Amino acid sequence: MELQTDFLVVGGGIAGLSLAVKLARLGKVTVLSKKKADVSASELAQGGIACVAAPDDSFDLHFQDTLRAGDGLCHEDIVDIVVRQASDRVRELEEWGVRFTKSGDGCFDLGQEGGHSRRRVVHAGDFTGREIQKALINLVRDNPAISLLQDHVAVDVITRCRIRGACSEPYALRRGARDRPAEKCMGMYVLDVASGDVKSIIARVTILATGGAGKVYLYTSNPDVSTGDGIAIAYRAGARVANLEFVQFHPTCLFHHKAKNFLISEALRGEGARLIDASGRVFMDTYDPDRKDLACRDVVARAIDAELKKSGAESVFLDITHRSPEFVKDRFPNIYETCLGFGIDITREPIPVVPAAHYMCGGVVTDRYGQTDIRGLFAIGETACTGLHGANRLASNSLLEGLVMAHQAYERIRAEWDDLRAEKMIPAQPWDAGGAVDMDEAVLISHNWDVIRRLMWDYVGIVRNDRRLALAGRRIRPILEEINRHYWDYTLTRDFLELRNLSMVADLIVRQASQRKESRGGHFNMDWPQKDDWNWRRDSLLCRDNVQT
Ligand code: SIN
Repeated sequence: MELQTDFLVVGGGIAGLSLAVKLARLGKVTVLSKKKADVSASELAQGGIACVAAPDDSFDLHFQDTLRAGDGLCHEDIVDIVVRQASDRVRELEEWGVRFTKSGDGCFDLGQEGGHSRRRVVHAGDFTGREIQKALINLVRDNPAISLLQDHVAVDVITRCRIRGACSEPYALRRGARDRPAEKCMGMYVLDVASGDVKSIIARVTILATGGAGKVYLYTSNPDVSTGDGIAIAYRAGARVANLEFVQFHPTCLFHHKAKNFLISEALRGEGARLIDASGRVFMDTYDPDRKDLACRDVVARAIDAELKKSGAESVFLDITHRSPEFVKDRFPNIYETCLGFGIDITREPIPVVPAAHYMCGGVVTDRYGQTDIRGLFAIGETACTGLHGANRLASNSLLEGLVMAHQAYERIRAEWDDLRAEKMIPAQPWDAGGAVDMDEAVLISHNWDVIRRLMWDYVGIVRNDRRLALAGRRIRPILEEINRHYWDYTLTRDFLELRNLSMVADLIVRQASQRKESRGGHFNMDWPQKDDWNWRRDSLLCRDNVQT
């Protein structure tokens, strides 16, 4: 089955949906959501949106804080764009119906988070993501120019290559197709989970907004859908990816055997919560005497990791019991209620916490408009590497980046729209499943999934070394080969596609982490503990056909 649309947005988080709302002013938009529309990492975001709004704040301070967290790798032009657009994007959200928490005088109640020198986090209680997603999903559902396809999983881009100056047939990474970089993206093969059919969706512009890849790790704050699909798809099509070794571990996820991925927002530390060990000793003063509990995330995550290794304990604790119960319940209603559901009253007792994989600072290389190396293919939000985050993301810069880069992409597409819509849309070859049969043993998928996630946690986690990185690479590659060998033998399922993408992203993380012979931001290698600006103050780049550093 073939569908045609002007714009295909893959992913239903804040970046994808805010872009869809804008693109609907130009033409017909199709949005793919891998599960239901309300399942995304944006939905789970608690903290908020970093935005200069306080009288004692300035663009320059936000700019400098972002650079400091990014540890030498931020692209200053991108930081400047993002920081300066924050208030316009926040205002736009308010116009779309998002209600942020305000103080009595009608000003934003600005939160404080690690790495920020001022209070600048605009938030909606401690469920900012949910509030924004609710407004965006309503706008998308009410807009006749937007079709939302839920339970649809992107498989691979449909591309058109140029051979010796002439246009070839539409091409994708299909059985028998030659493996070479793509030139123009023409849409996407997409699995409809309910019917099991693979549709071809032809689009003038395709946007990857699939979020991150936290599920590569055993412990993560991310939802199950965060399997790095956009990164793997773009890489397979020949686009460059960058800086995937910079995985951000959030220092404080709830440690409870029944809690799967519940984050304890950094905003608690912004309101005075302190990290303590089982005996009640505060420990961040030792690791960062200036910023203490509000040090950048990489520093806090490594400190907790060191404390856990030293003591052999299963968790450390976050203590906010010195604040009044009324304040805690009012400011953190979601965290309060959720913890209470697990039997923890955070107004009376410290919260057991551990670090968990939270955010990919790297991703698909784009320019300042979200354009990837492949014409017609954009990447925005966590999927992309714009250079904003450098080696470590400043807290609450991620929803902001999603909104700003969606806007940037919209501006670029709008400027080129007359040319884009004049291009003829060429039908794709229908998906050819060949002799593929149903996989009757789900254990083939779940086993490899578990192996990869455990391996990444143990060998490619918060603190790495050369030996473990080499071992990880040696163990992941046979799994990748096995998946590729069987790719055409079985009919596609969501789980199989996710495993294929997840294993590819795991391999890319290991390769980029092994390449970087220094420690910087979210990448810490015990064998190379120093920062080496002379050799390594640069992005790590990988592309399917050759390695560039
Ligand atoms: C948090 O609330 O701690 C998470 C916010 C973020 O990841 O920026």
